[in-house]
Amino acid sequence: MKTYPGAFIPTGRTQLCHRRPLNVEKFWFGVCYYPEHWDPATREGDAKMMAKAGVNVVRMAEFAWDLMEPGEGRFDFSLFDETISRLAGHGISTVLCTPTAAPPRWLTFAHPEILRTDANGVRMQHGSRQHASYAHPVFREHSARITRAMAEHYRDNPHVVGWQTDNEIYCHFHDDHGPEMQVAFCEFLRRKFRSDIGALNRAWGTAFWAQTYGSFEQIETPRPGRPTYCNPAHLLDYARFLSDVVENFQHDQVAILRPLNPRWYVFHNGIMPKTDYRGPFTQDLDFIGFDIYPFFSHEPATRAASHAFNSDRARSYSGNFIVPEHQSGMGSQANYGQNLPEPGEMRKLTFASIARGADSLLYFRWRTCRFGAELYWMGILDHDNVPRRRFGELGQIGREIAAIGPRVLGTSVYLDVAVATGDYDQREAHDIFSIGLPRPDSIAEGIHRVFWEGGYAVGAVHPNDDLSGIKVYFIPHWAYFDPAWVPNLERFVAAGGILVIGARTATRDTNNNVVAETLPGCLRGLVGATVEEYGMENPEGGRVKKITIGEASVQGATWSEWLEPDAGTGVAGRWYGRHFTGKAAVTVKSSGKGGVYYVGTYLSPEVIQALMPELTRKSGLQKLWPAPGGVEVVKRHSTDRQLWFFINHADQEIILDSVPEGIELASREAVGKSGMRLPRHGVCVIERKADLLGKSNNE
Ligand code: GAL
Repeated sequence: MKTYPGAFIPTGRTQLCHRRPLNVEKFWFGVCYYPEHWDPATREGDAKMMAKAGVNVVRMAEFAWDLMEPGEGRFDFSLFDETISRLAGHGISTVLCTPTAAPPRWLTFAHPEILRTDANGVRMQHGSRQHASYAHPVFREHSARITRAMAEHYRDNPHVVGWQTDNEIYCHFHDDHGPEMQVAFCEFLRRKFRSDIGALNRAWGTAFWAQTYGSFEQIETPRPGRPTYCNPAHLLDYARFLSDVVENFQHDQVAILRPLNPRWYVFHNGIMPKTDYRGPFTQDLDFIGFDIYPFFSHEPATRAASHAFNSDRARSYSGNFIVPEHQSGMGSQANYGQNLPEPGEMRKLTFASIARGADSLLYFRWRTCRFGAELYWMGILDHDNVPRRRFGELGQIGREIAAIGPRVLGTSVYLDVAVATGDYDQREAHDIFSIGLPRPDSIAEGIHRVFWEGGYAVGAVHPNDDLSGIKVYFIPHWAYFDPAWVPNLERFVAAGGILVIGARTATRDTNNNVVAETLPGCLRGLVGATVEEYGMENPEGGRVKKITIGEASVQGATWSEWLEPDAGTGVAGRWYGRHFTGKAAVTVKSSGKGGVYYVGTYLSPEVIQALMPELTRKSGLQKLWPAPGGVEVVKRHSTDRQLWFFINHADQEIILDSVPEGIELASREAVGKSGMRLPRHGVCVIERKADLLGKSNNE
């Protein structure tokens, strides 16, 4: 975790572990609700209809600052008082949001200096959202005031159970180069480098292109292209600063909310760029929120796999999550539109989210709004308020959640194989200096997909997290690599894990500079080999190189490294082509009870498939359950139970020859003596009988 002197101390409520379940008293199931969009007669009927569908919570007020504080210091909470109490009358609790994603016009009119400034020096305008600068002291003061006013007003209201801070911070854009940001950036650097400008000059390598700074005040926020390439260390610290800004901005709000009512749970809804979700931002919360919109993936064939990877990556920050917004209808904005979820598809995606870590879930949104910037972002109800198919499906899911939710809580997702994700600095360092190579996360998604399609229990875990029990762990091309992560990997391998490291890993340090050691830098001891030469693979250029791995011959992907194994390190793949012919392309070193593979090219699906026989043999990796292709199988478990999710993503009915013996939770029927039919978009959740679990449950 980052610790800069003078930075706030997060409350540390959230432990950063991918296995951590949410500590909530019930599975919160509900909708995002905007009473400010509707007249009293329409509002009147809402709570009753929601209760009928099994809703037990709504989220409100994230864009209603103008209503709650119509003029500076004048507060009016009457609409929300009335709504909260009407909902409570139907057994529905409320999560409130601090409304700071949409500051009111009186504020931006009186203080235009709080508006954000982009890299071209253009100031944002009032008229959409996220227009204010999170670093501006005037905005922070007003944000703290509305937060305090709301929190004090609702501190003793038993129906308000939690808070969301702001809304999807940085979801539209993150850049901010206004005068206050210059001051804040300078202060951030002063804290980070303990007022030692020499330390900054050394860390950033300012000797290159005469960039040496004489004082912190001389440093500006970097704007690439003015006139040409910027210093990558300067850019990385700017990215860290952007996250630090919102960590502090959010902390203002958390510090107000916590003491007023310690029983409230507090979260934020991401996952968005330029926020480090595996750091103080998240540690300050009870848990993170992950807004799920699977239809941004336009291809039905790949949507399910992307949804699985994105959920696993969200869990890699700090474990299970709440879904404050889950897609319920067609999504669109002024310039795009998406597919319509088919009958049963919202239910299927909901249970796919729960399978992979959602411990509570709310749909966006109760009813589609007839005005404003999201005219056709469809909610559960259409504009005309007629309950149609999606409302019926909500009711079905609500009934099922009543049975399944309590069994889900307290369990975590079972993993056999994982890819490294979840590190903010690593991702930023790549984007800043990618040399045109794909993002490690896209490669991770490709690896994840091979195992997902193969029916393995695959997930995503940060290299500094709990790796126990994982059989095979991949690190895909993390050029930026913190040597502090190495001991955890050593323990993983010593305990029997198989570690697979992709080319270029550990080639850059925590300042985003190239390491001085022979590659692969701090991983050299674990890998037991060195990199002798490297360069881009360019099939169009004709200089094709192939790799033979066992029986397979595959094209070197994207990048090629000629490896020199140390004595005692084996060769599991060799180059064929140009001057690399006969050189090692994949090395393997046995270590403790496990082993380390280093792959001198990119971990493309073809390369993974070629390695698969060797990896499965060495690790004992097996499919989670013998289900046909197109069926996603996920196991959630705790010390006393296993929940098995079978999710049909094939475009047709599927017959499962076998399922685990247990209780199908939605119907409470015993299953497992024979197979099961899963219709298109069908889902079933089976709790394995306790007496059948034996010792294997917690493997
Ligand atoms: C989310 C956002 C919501 C709404 C929704 C649909 O990103 O938090 O406020 O805009 O998308 O566009």
